[in-house]
Amino acid sequence: MKILITGGAGYIGSHIGIELLNNGYDIIIIDNYCNSDRNVIRIMQQIAGKSFLSYDCDLRDKHQMEMVFRENAISAVIHCAGLKCVPESIANPIPYYQNNIGGTLNLLECMKRYGVYKIVFSSSATVYGLNNPVPYKEEMLLSATNPYGWTKIMIEQILKDFTTAEKDMKAAILRYFNPIGAHPSGLIGEKPEGIPNNLMPYLCQAAAGKLPSIKICGTDYRTADGTGVRDYIHVCDLVKGHVKALEKLDFLTGTEIYNLGTGKGSSVLKLITTFETVNGIKLKREISKRRPGDIDESYADVSKADKELGWKTELSLEDMCRDSWNYIKKNYAVSTE
Ligand code: NAD
Ligand code: UD1
Repeated sequence: MKILITGGAGYIGSHIGIELLNNGYDIIIIDNYCNSDRNVIRIMQQIAGKSFLSYDCDLRDKHQMEMVFRENAISAVIHCAGLKCVPESIANPIPYYQNNIGGTLNLLECMKRYGVYKIVFSSSATVYGLNNPVPYKEEMLLSATNPYGWTKIMIEQILKDFTTAEKDMKAAILRYFNPIGAHPSGLIGEKPEGIPNNLMPYLCQAAAGKLPSIKICGTDYRTADGTGVRDYIHVCDLVKGHVKALEKLDFLTGTEIYNLGTGKGSSVLKLITTFETVNGIKLKREISKRRPGDIDESYADVSKADKELGWKTELSLEDMCRDSWNYIKKNYAVSTE
């Protein structure tokens, strides 16, 4: 079975690719490398010991997309391609809507034209907005606080409408909580670019000596230690959920939604102390103000994925902290000053 992964050179897509190859699937990758390196393709092939086709292609390019579908007998699509930086989406919303929505519409048109009826989509816990109580359940009302989040809500709606209109079409929407960690080989992981917005990349850059200290954004949240609580999930657990979702698609009609998280929240302080203990590093801490729009806590109700997909996480916060740092240490110069 040949699976097309859009955004397959990115952080999550590359881990999905390796997991699929290890499970006996063939893969093809489409990526325009706007947030990834071409080298990742070679490294994936090295890790999995298998080769595959990759296309340097923008999802919005109708002509190139036609070519990919014409040249390959694709059984299903895992759709990870998209822009994902929240502050960037607020500062410059149009490219976010053009890329994430425009790219998805073009992809769905190609799927329809070439009779490809199965899609797994990378959504986000950001769609639960500010007003839902934890743990988040799939049927809760959705809202967003930024254009990135709105693109996820809109694509979810597009998939529901599309699978309603096209009776053969099936979609699994996977709402990721906070993916961190990296492949145990340390050869692929989350690319560190500029000053990170998310906590784990920030921790890694501080540990690597690229930033003077770590920033704790708010200590007055309504949580046990006052810092924000999130449901961190190891990327290697997350990608296993995609294989389960792909298998499930054969038995679904329409669109189904699954949370992919651990079901447990960890605070900023807990993540920092775990990172320090596991990796034997002491980080300088700086207390900073809350980030606008941040919530107290976010964690998943994972009972639906457990019951219907037979999936649950296995890796610990310690594994996540060890593997994130292992990737940075192996691939990026670390200052010892
Ligand atoms: P990433 O940026 O590492 O990967 C996305 C990939 O898509 C990149 O390789 C990029 O070059 C490619 N891409 C973007 N626009 C494209 C286009 N128009 N045509 C072709 N390729 C394009 O991001 P990631 O962390 O791997 O995230 C994958 C998906 O999961 C995204 O849709 C993201 O919104 C979603 N998600 C990520 C997180 C997270 O914390 N990483 C959380 C929730 C949801
Ligand atoms: C962010 C995104 C969200 C996305 C999710 C998963 C924002 C506003 N939201 O959410 O859309 O779906 O990642 O990728 O960017 N923190 C610090 N110091 C830092 C950075 C973060 O203390 O330098 C805190 C935050 O306040 C939060 C926690 O760490 O409490 C986690 O932050 P982050 O990694 O950015 O994830 P989310 O806030 O869940």
